[in-house]
Amino acid sequence: MIGRLNHVAIAVPDLAVAAERYRALLGASVSQPQCLPEHGVQVVFVDTGNSKIELMEPLGDTSPIAKFLARTPEGGVHHLCFEVADLVAASGYLVAQGARLLGDGQPRVGAHGKPVLFIHPKDFNGTLIELEQI
Ligand code: CO
Repeated sequence: MIGRLNHVAIAVPDLAVAAERYRALLGASVSQPQCLPEHGVQVVFVDTGNSKIELMEPLGDTSPIAKFLARTPEGGVHHLCFEVADLVAASGYLVAQGARLLGDGQPRVGAHGKPVLFIHPKDFNGTLIELEQI
């Protein structure tokens, strides 16, 4: 079902510091910061050639990653995103197999303007999985 790893998302307490670390220590190419108020995050993308790292800092008090950072203040891997060709088919298959989808299980437009859904971390060894239709 899954295609390539689209991105690894890492929650960070300070986006500028985290972005500079990837740039300075790893020599990575890092995008300009983007504010995504409707998703409660500010992000930069680190180009890894074969995939991307998305560094996310909370934007606003109701940010969905605020709780994550309250538990792990130094930051950490928040989710992995895999590409799929057909999100509705993927969702139907996963639910039939007993996987738990977050929210109402319906695809939503994600932070990159494409339909996404999330699989509960308890179904994948504590790792939140995002599926994005490409
Ligand atoms: Co993502």
